Amino acid sequence: MTSAPRRLFVTTALPYANGSFHIGHIMEYIQADLWVRFQRMRGHEVHFVGADDAHGAPIMLKAESLGMTAQELVAKIAAERPASLNGFHIRFDHWHSTDTPENVELSQTIYRALRDAGFIDVREIEQFFDPVKAMFLPDRYIQGGCPKCGAPDQYGDACEVCGAVYNATELINPRSTLTGATPVLARSDHYFFRLSDPRCVAYLRAWLSGVSAQDGPPVQTEVANKVREWLGEEADAQLADWDISRDAPYFGIPIPDAPNKYFYVWLDAPIGYLAALKHHFDVGQAAHHWHQQSRTLQDFDAFMNDAQVEQVHFIGKDIVYFHTLFFPAMLHFSGRKSPSAINVHGFMTVSGEKMSKSRGTGLSPQRYLELGLNPEWLRYYLAAKLNARVEDVDFNPDDFLARVNSDLIGKYVNIASRAAGFLNKRFDGQVIATGTASNDASRSVELIKGLRGSADSIAHAWDARDNGRAVREIMALADRVNQFADEVKPWELARNPDQADQLQAACSTLIEAFHILTVYLHPVLPSTTEHALRFLNCHHQMTGGVLPWSASLQFNPEGGRIGAYEHLMTRVEAKQIDALFDAPSPTAAASTAPTKTAPAEAAPSAPTISIDQFNAVELRVARIIQAERIEGSNRLLRLMLDVGEDHPRQVLSGIAQVYAPEQLIDRLTVLVANLEPRKMKFGVSQGMVLAAGSDDPKNPGIYLLNADSGALPGMRVS
Ligand code: 2FM
Ligand code: ZN
Repeated sequence: MTSAPRRLFVTTALPYANGSFHIGHIMEYIQADLWVRFQRMRGHEVHFVGADDAHGAPIMLKAESLGMTAQELVAKIAAERPASLNGFHIRFDHWHSTDTPENVELSQTIYRALRDAGFIDVREIEQFFDPVKAMFLPDRYIQGGCPKCGAPDQYGDACEVCGAVYNATELINPRSTLTGATPVLARSDHYFFRLSDPRCVAYLRAWLSGVSAQDGPPVQTEVANKVREWLGEEADAQLADWDISRDAPYFGIPIPDAPNKYFYVWLDAPIGYLAALKHHFDVGQAAHHWHQQSRTLQDFDAFMNDAQVEQVHFIGKDIVYFHTLFFPAMLHFSGRKSPSAINVHGFMTVSGEKMSKSRGTGLSPQRYLELGLNPEWLRYYLAAKLNARVEDVDFNPDDFLARVNSDLIGKYVNIASRAAGFLNKRFDGQVIATGTASNDASRSVELIKGLRGSADSIAHAWDARDNGRAVREIMALADRVNQFADEVKPWELARNPDQADQLQAACSTLIEAFHILTVYLHPVLPSTTEHALRFLNCHHQMTGGVLPWSASLQFNPEGGRIGAYEHLMTRVEAKQIDALFDAPSPTAAASTAPTKTAPAEAAPSAPTISIDQFNAVELRVARIIQAERIEGSNRLLRLMLDVGEDHPRQVLSGIAQVYAPEQLIDRLTVLVANLEPRKMKFGVSQGMVLAAGSDDPKNPGIYLLNADSGALPGMRVS
């Protein structure tokens, strides 16, 4: 392994400041946090920062609809962040915002440098303008008929019915979704980053092949292949110029010397990584930092110019384009270093279902914490499923329960609980180091040697972000330790007073093995392992908040004794998982895949489906014949529905906060009749009733769909 300390600047993608974290954010932060913790254990210098992505039209308009300023909305969201981050033990050194003086200065400085190097063009373009709102309309705020198939109410960039991609100006009868007005075409000067300059493709090709980096290519092979496709095969391939300006009104950073023009949010967002680090360096030392190293005074420019510094970004696969083309080009042609690594992960799915960027999935990280579920269960589960490739990660509730209970409780914690009781009760906690005179049985020595011998291989897996492999290797070692316990049978030795020495020796070896596993698991279970170190009287091995990786080589509890065994972790109960997924929102079925177009200005719309796919969903008219509250749940109502079948169906619906049961009796509504029955805490739900709802906090209502009178229970809706 590397011996010279690395200097690392690590970030995760900046979330838009208009909503709470969803599970996809938390997965990425856990992946990065785990890697950062491991690098610190190896003695490397790490600066790990995040920030809110504050700018853009959607945030401006959302704030307006809430009757607040954009800054107020951003501040409100920022205030929520620490609870979620701390809740999952995600330890950024600093959490910043892109709407800050540092980011204004850096974005404008980078822009000026690009302009001076001849990379900025100004061109007049024609675009839809809302005459009522007096603003140019991003595509997501224009709807009209599809120019190809005529389908009504399609967004300005693509048709959800026939899949056609077009310009907003081609829509039939376009209208602004902000005011309903008919947009008019208007001309305006826009600023472009001249990516078509041949120097860009040449540079990006070189960057991609790793010639400028110490550690080889900056992206995974599958990502490099994709980027090469974008860069084109031909020697003289060109990229399209990138429109980096938006006209006022816009919540963003003013473009120097260009009145009423602002940088498009995707220009200043990645520069926000640098701004967050700069703020951390400039003023961060005054604040309290959990980590000693982060208190050292640093000069931002000197750090960024140091060839040794590795700049590492963790991002999702939907924003590769921005991070592998625009961002390195902006940095390089403004005289800065490009990223050393862009680590791309796949999407998070829940029970195979994709996630919507705005609505997330049914797995709410906030609810997870509110319910008191152990954050390290999730950290462990995700680590076990993550590797260094761009693969989606599925959260499967049954698998989660089985894996956490079998690995963490059944294998890891079990070792300590098996051995510590005997040591404490019979030997006052005193341990005998394996390999010393009174604890030198060969199988004990072999066990410890084998465990320590795996340190490099596990370290290699953590370093390479092959977390699943690291976890598998550690659990294979835990299996060996449990097998050792099954063979030496401490509980039998304990019955015979003559075998006290063997009992103490065997339990000491078990505890020593447990200590080694504790060090190996520390990046993923920072809290449990820290508790374990306290009970082992080994907490002195942590210095400045960091446990060195080499701690696995030395087991020297203070006073030669372990402390009283403290319960380290409880099992996951099925009812906790049920509660987590309890009361699905009636509109949850509308979840969609993350949008592929520029996310700040594109609606989270579902991919198009064929008519056959639509027909696969069996929608039927249902009459609500009974509705009642459910004891123990303030979100669910139990509905009995007549769907024209022999027996009524039971559906548990998360509408209790908006409908009183008596309001619903005899109403006709629409049921998804062929939805897989879902076992919930309060019974089985045989389908789902349809309701409209939005995630606008000003209108959190849920509106049950009605069928017109005359419709009969069981009629197919199509
Ligand atoms: O896709 C998103 O959610 C963006 N807010 C990510 C920005 S990452 C970086 F460029 F700031
Ligand atoms: Zn169409």
